[in-house]
Amino acid sequence: MKIMVVGGTGTLGKAVVKELSARHEIIIAAHQSGDIHVDITDPVSIENMYHTVDNLDAVITTTGKVVFRDFLAMKAEDYQLGLNDKLMGQVNLVMIGCRYINDRGSFTLTSGILSEDPIRTATSAALVNAAIDGFVRSAAIEMPRGLRINSVSPTVLTESLVKYGSYFHGFESVSAARVALAFSKSVEGLQTGQTYRVGY
Ligand SMILES: NC(=O)c1ccc[n+]([C@@H]2O[C@H](COP(=O)([O-])OP(=O)(O)OC[C@H]3O[C@@H](n4cnc5c(N)ncnc54)[C@H](OP(=O)(O)O)[C@@H]3O)[C@@H](O)[C@H]2O)c1
Repeated sequence: MKIMVVGGTGTLGKAVVKELSARHEIIIAAHQSGDIHVDITDPVSIENMYHTVDNLDAVITTTGKVVFRDFLAMKAEDYQLGLNDKLMGQVNLVMIGCRYINDRGSFTLTSGILSEDPIRTATSAALVNAAIDGFVRSAAIEMPRGLRINSVSPTVLTESLVKYGSYFHGFESVSAARVALAFSKSVEGLQTGQTYRVGY
């Protein structure tokens, strides 16, 4: 298969690329790095990205930013950042990608544990992750041409504990390599409308 991994240079994305590259042709899209540059917050940039690649069988997204801040300090623009970036960035990759991807192709998005197992400072992550999983469940039943869509919802990655470990006391972490298996299941299997929870 020809698979595009948007965010394929990041902590999670690199593991997904490693898992799939032995069996498939991989194109890595990222903001500053990768084979193709794209800004997921800009629909024109997404459209340009799809124009430069043909014959795609799968699109994986392992990207998306949200603001981590105490609830009482959150401002509307803090929520808006996560909505524009992690949520609508991934939704637009699907909406626009539907016109380009091959018949029976697939989309696999990334959400995360925080909508189901909340921690302090993570109301925006919770909001966005729940929206992604809901979008996937609903879009799956309307996908044309046999297209499929799933999301992967990991707990904190072991590789990210240096950065985020202090937010996740009491949580078990999971290796990015193990999370990558869920992306493999989504792309190489036949399921649709699923959220694969990994590590919790
Ligand atoms: N890390 C964790 O513990 C963890 C746990 C659960 C869920 N998640 C979720 O997993 C996803 C990836 O997390 P990560 O820790 O792997 O992130 P990361 O290491 O910061 O990597 C982010 C990737 O996204 C790309 N990117 C950033 N802004 C972009 C934009 N505007 N347009 C296109 N690409 C952009 C980056 O490319 P450049 O480097 O070129 O900018 C990079 O390839 C996020 O949605 C995160 O919420 C992460």
